[in-house]
Amino acid sequence: MTDHATEALNRPDREFEIGLRPSRFADFIGQDKVRERLELFVEAARGRGESLDHVLLSGPPGLGKTTLAYILAEAMGVHVRATSGPVIDKPGDLAGLLTSIEPGDVVFIDEIHRMQRAVEEYLYSAMEDFVIDIMIDQGPNARSVRLNLPRFTLVGATTRSGLLTAPLRSRFAMTARLDYSPPEALQAIVERSARILNVAVEEDGAMEIARRARGTPRIANNLLRRVRDFAQVRADNRIDRPIADRALRLLDIDENGLDEMDKRILDALIERFAGGPVGVGSLAVCVGEEPGTIEEVYEPYLIQEGYVKRTPQGRVALPRAYATTGRDPTGRAESPRLL
Ligand SMILES: Nc1ncnc2c1ncn2[C@@H]1O[C@H](COP(=O)(O)OP(=O)(O)O)[C@@H](O)[C@H]1O
Ligand SMILES: [Mg+2]
Repeated sequence: MTDHATEALNRPDREFEIGLRPSRFADFIGQDKVRERLELFVEAARGRGESLDHVLLSGPPGLGKTTLAYILAEAMGVHVRATSGPVIDKPGDLAGLLTSIEPGDVVFIDEIHRMQRAVEEYLYSAMEDFVIDIMIDQGPNARSVRLNLPRFTLVGATTRSGLLTAPLRSRFAMTARLDYSPPEALQAIVERSARILNVAVEEDGAMEIARRARGTPRIANNLLRRVRDFAQVRADNRIDRPIADRALRLLDIDENGLDEMDKRILDALIERFAGGPVGVGSLAVCVGEEPGTIEEVYEPYLIQEGYVKRTPQGRVALPRAYATTGRDPTGRAESPRLL
């Protein structure tokens, strides 16, 4: 699979996703603990007739952070104003946004770890006291003006929670971390999406897609879309296990759902570093990715699935990593690589 194809699988397609996005907690599949905590949080706020306190959602891409932000707003009966960290590039942008909302609205800031520090500092008083002090004019006339804001709920999303500053993090009343979903949950997501898309999918076909979706709802939906195309052209629009398998093979989708970067990491670990232990910094240089991204986006799945172990000395390849890259634990290639 090329880099390009891999990236595409976890790339959001806005229109496609909006159609499949659950808008209520009841339709949000898996992540039971997070869902229950958020539901309770909403119920308590509503019971007191208050707006919802600020929420931070973290976790790897495609696991449902944006979806939850919209579900929270829907459950509170308010609008969402969505933006992202890198887009707000000066304090005035933030002030403009926060003064144009209605009381109780959800302000969703995606990639909040990428917000500029100068802007972030304005957010502190906005989140805490619902005021923002803006400098107007320059030189001798420069003065600060205090703007009162309506109460709002900030929902922040981040793939890199480790990069959030302590003052920002401490202003969220609730922090929820999303995790990779087990195949059973992804299967239910595929079945739900198939109903919406009006595609016939057998239970085992949905499971095959789920098993190869890297624990990620977005990837599961994107795979379903591709398998649907295959089924439409080659199989009377019905997706069963053999059809799903053939379609996914044709697309070079790994049996275990690993993507190109996962495979590069495993290859580097085994080939260049003799299976480890190796520090994440060296590994990162070798695969051309940032250490933090490896740690927070790629590694959690590899660890959860038993390919890699994190030790005090560094990362170590486990037998499953050798097996999946077609090597024996001495690092020699056993057979032509299947990946
Ligand atoms: N728990 C879930 N149940 C059903 N669909 C989900 C779930 N989580 C994510 N999805 C779907 O997966 C896609 C990606 O979710 P999104 O919220 O955009 O992820 P993130 O913002 O974390 O990158 C969307 O189409 C979304 O509706
Ligand atoms: Mg998102």
